Amino acid sequence: MCGIIGYTGKKEVSKILVKGLSRLEYRGYDSAGIAVLAKEKIRIRKKKGKLSVLRDDLKRVPIEGHVGIGHTRWATHGVPNDVNAHPHADGEHSVAVVHNGIIENYREIKENLKKKGYDFLSDTDSEVFAHLISDNYNGDLCEAVKTSIKEIKGSYAIAAMHKNEPDRIIGARMDSPLVVGVGEDETFLASDIPAILDYTKDVIYIENGDIVDLSGNVCSIYDSDGQKVERDMVKIKWDISQAEKGGYKHFMLKEIFEQPKVLHDIFKERIIGDSVAFEELVIDEGVLKGIKNIAIIACGTAYHAGLTGKYILEKHTRIPVWVDTSSEFRYRDPLVGENTLVVVVSQSGETADTLAALREAKSRGSKVLAICNVLGSSIAREADGVIYTHAGPEIAVASTKAYTAQLAILYLFAYYLAEVRGDSQEHDKNFLKELKKLPASAEKILRQYHTDENILEKYAGEFHEYYLARNNKSCFLYLARNVNYPNALEGALKLKEISYVSAEGYPAGEMKHGPIALIDENPWVVCIAVEADTYEKMLSNIQEIKARGGLVIAITTEGDTEIKGIDVNYNIRVPRVPEMFSPILVIVPLQLLAYFIAAEFGYDIDQPRNLAKSVTVE
Ligand code: F6R
Repeated sequence: MCGIIGYTGKKEVSKILVKGLSRLEYRGYDSAGIAVLAKEKIRIRKKKGKLSVLRDDLKRVPIEGHVGIGHTRWATHGVPNDVNAHPHADGEHSVAVVHNGIIENYREIKENLKKKGYDFLSDTDSEVFAHLISDNYNGDLCEAVKTSIKEIKGSYAIAAMHKNEPDRIIGARMDSPLVVGVGEDETFLASDIPAILDYTKDVIYIENGDIVDLSGNVCSIYDSDGQKVERDMVKIKWDISQAEKGGYKHFMLKEIFEQPKVLHDIFKERIIGDSVAFEELVIDEGVLKGIKNIAIIACGTAYHAGLTGKYILEKHTRIPVWVDTSSEFRYRDPLVGENTLVVVVSQSGETADTLAALREAKSRGSKVLAICNVLGSSIAREADGVIYTHAGPEIAVASTKAYTAQLAILYLFAYYLAEVRGDSQEHDKNFLKELKKLPASAEKILRQYHTDENILEKYAGEFHEYYLARNNKSCFLYLARNVNYPNALEGALKLKEISYVSAEGYPAGEMKHGPIALIDENPWVVCIAVEADTYEKMLSNIQEIKARGGLVIAITTEGDTEIKGIDVNYNIRVPRVPEMFSPILVIVPLQLLAYFIAAEFGYDIDQPRNLAKSVTVE
């Protein structure tokens, strides 16, 4: 994880670095730092805590210069403190480096360098980069970096500078993202595009193994063999306003409210008449016709989208689908081969385990399709085919709009696959029509929670009081069946992530096999009981919970009268849609419930403790 940035040009660099880092804070936020090169001197300022601590410090005592690098950290080796924060320097402050990734053989390198007389200050793996580059330096920083990375095992995106080379920044990447931004008389390096979007929309994605040499406005790129190469420049279409809060208190709330538009855009772009088109999908139709099964691989929220994808794909294509978390798949000798289509789902496109799973699947002869949000990300580039969710930048650590966008794409892909294989079902005729109604229905749900009579805010307030009255000892259970079962997992994950309240998701049919033991007046039980084949069974589950003194929040369909006969404590309603399409709507109030509970607790919703948006380490 961690975010890095570099700048060389004519502007005052510290402001550019800090602003860029503020757009990368989603990648880590336990400490931050910058290094500025001016008058043959490297000056470093780094601080434990959020970026605001560093920003305030720089306001008090500015550092001036026109070339610099910066870092926002998510600790892997060494606790968050000023010393472990980046940038790191060699003993003489000749070299400064920022690093995102993990150096697996750092102990060995450190021991060798210590024997040569290098003193280490921090507990990080990253510090070895600074000393190693210094050790390999013979008057040319680019050459020193080239030599150094040959000794490194692990993942990295780095930016380095040397005090004797006043306009130069060298970058390199292996399995951690890095982009170059090209402006007028200035160049940038960054982990992600939002960091530089204020200054340029012309971006170059750096390939694994590449080394980048930025000198003023000139950018040269070398591949892993040291050959000079040209990489395509891409024009970014979206605007920086999309990466800003736009009047919402938190990015998470903004992103929840963006969902109707995201869904609308996806359907508008992909549904052409009675067909679905994916212009970027390059997996041959012959291959899709021949597959015998599908494996969906992902982590966290994307995994939950994958679980829902299983229900959707199996129903509409009758192809067997299994779903795995990437970290399990990659290490368990998975049974995939030429007849398996492997679908990896990832918002960031950089999740280390998902990337490794993708490579594992490819090495076993499977074709891999990626469903990704971030354009040009490692997963998108390494897959055989990609479908972009085009949900725009997702900044809040807790994923919301990326999830519903992934679901939308999985519906469309199921339809597309059934069409390609010529096995569309009779009921498919209404499939696209139903999908196209979803954005308006999602909008309708959200409208109710933009008013002063926001019942979710009220429920959240009551839960907060209840929790405090019980000495912080309450929890949540989420129950659902069939295609909404993954939403039970996702609802629980959202709550855990941002409010630190213990929450579990279960298939409701499993309740009697364990979770029912938890039921007394303590846990709040969210029951997803929308119109469905298993509706009556959900009602029985609710009765069983009520009979044991449990407190129920029921999610039901508008117009449901039966639920009135059961004395549920809280009721949240969603518009009527066929069961198969309900997950996209049901998740919206669950996201909001988690949000409002976290807001009641006063937590830092966009940057919850210990988490990072992009998990680029195992
Ligand atoms: C949860 C969340 C994480 C991610 C997971 C996978 O709100 O954001 O669970 O879903 O880390 O990330 P991507 O989708 O980037 O591979």
